[in-house]
Amino acid sequence: MTKLLPQNQIDAFKARAASIEHPMEMIIDVLRAIQDHHRWVPDEGVELAAEILGTSPLKVEEVATFYDKIYRQEVGQKVIHVCDSICCWTREAERIYAYLQECLGVAPGETTADGAFTLLPTCCLGACGEAPAMMIGLTTYGKLTEEKIERILAAERAGGGA
Ligand code: FES
Repeated sequence: MTKLLPQNQIDAFKARAASIEHPMEMIIDVLRAIQDHHRWVPDEGVELAAEILGTSPLKVEEVATFYDKIYRQEVGQKVIHVCDSICCWTREAERIYAYLQECLGVAPGETTADGAFTLLPTCCLGACGEAPAMMIGLTTYGKLTEEKIERILAAERAGGGA
């Protein structure tokens, strides 16, 4: 299972799960750890999480598929979550989303040919005052324009944020 999570991390999670009354409260931590290590959570990751938490894969799957920032399919090196909610739509998100697709050469849900980015819509990022907004990794970018998108993509491709 070290492909999904280092053995010492599996052991640490199991020890913690055994010491608390409701191990399921750790589920996001476990899924995020698998994702951080493997980039996305395959079926084997769901089974590993279930084993760690002492529950069924179905219970893990219910949570994993509820959160759109847990990836159950392979994604690129970075995931771009474009806000698909009302404040952003009233501030020209449609134009920005189209421009992003043009720059990346992908449709929503797809990964660029070089594997650098996966483009996904998401619900409100909580940055409505900065609309239109998107998130890459843990960074939220707001007040997006075509020029700003070009700068952000170049900086993210180079390994950092804008
Ligand atoms: S509606 Fe886009 S950040 Fe809230």
